Amino acid sequence: MNFTKTLIAWYLRHKRDLPWRHTTHPYHIWLSEIMLQQTRVAQGMPYYFAFTEAFPTVFDLANAPEEKVLKLWQGLGYYSRARNLHKTAQIVAFDFGGNFPNNYHDLLKLKGVGEYTAAAIASFSFNEAVPVVDGNVFRVLARYFDIGTDIANASAKKEFSALALALMPKDDPAIFNQAMMEFGALQCVPKNPDCGVCPMNSGCLALKHKKVNQLPVKSKKTKVKNRFLNYLVVVDENGNSVIQKRTAKGIWHNLYEFPLIETETEADLEFVLPKVATLFPQTLSVSESKRVNHKLTHQNLNIVFWKIEVAGVLENAINYDALQTFPFPIVIHNFIEQNWKDS
Ligand code: ADE
Repeated sequence: MNFTKTLIAWYLRHKRDLPWRHTTHPYHIWLSEIMLQQTRVAQGMPYYFAFTEAFPTVFDLANAPEEKVLKLWQGLGYYSRARNLHKTAQIVAFDFGGNFPNNYHDLLKLKGVGEYTAAAIASFSFNEAVPVVDGNVFRVLARYFDIGTDIANASAKKEFSALALALMPKDDPAIFNQAMMEFGALQCVPKNPDCGVCPMNSGCLALKHKKVNQLPVKSKKTKVKNRFLNYLVVVDENGNSVIQKRTAKGIWHNLYEFPLIETETEADLEFVLPKVATLFPQTLSVSESKRVNHKLTHQNLNIVFWKIEVAGVLENAINYDALQTFPFPIVIHNFIEQNWKDS
């Protein structure tokens, strides 16, 4: 059987009608591909619509305040993507007159644009024959050709990329790249794919060798770090609260949060109380408001929101309506939405 012909025939029958598949405009392709990294289509779609509506052109995005970009990005995670998106929009708008580079090599120079995104834009917008290699592509090729290479190794990218390039019809790289990703997303899914209905099953070596659920091979190299974050939800006599911008490098850079005490282990009231009293001498009471466990890719965040009532009016305290205009990590946003009224 012919891998590429079968794949593309499958794609033409089964492809989803996705908004970024109706355009070749690099601005829209770029936006969608940055959003869809580490994010499922269903989750990314509302953000794609929100961004294209708020920022119809790369100039609109470039001219927006970073805070507005982060606010619209709120909930999508990996916020460095949003900050890079904004910086890159400014370079494209102000240095390149609004035109994206029109080839893989030059696209790669843009901040936040790696091999995957450069290949996606180059092929979808400019018909350049460069294969995209994302998790879907690794999986499809590793299974079909029974390749045991550990995809966590840097060298795997080269190997799979060369194979994808060899399979790619050079006169229509875009359809091949879309088809590979779609096939991985819908048919050759990570867990328990329905190989009985797969149009590729007669040629699939993993199926033949009964290794579908063992491929691709991916070693776990990253350790998950436990962190303990104590957020001080300080409420003054007007019912207003204080927030601060996270300026440190690392997670949630430039997003907002409540005043924070980070500890090495779980903190109890006895531990928190004197620290709160030092930070806010007008403290009347401290109580635990909510505990949340929030998992990021490399960090397990153990979060306690402490409710602190203080006497008098705090400088810089803001009310609920003002609070809502700032970009927060989703876990803090959810706390505010669920607990503000009765906190
Ligand atoms: N995931 C990443 N890019 C995609 C695309 N262009 N279509 C569907 N899913 C995707």
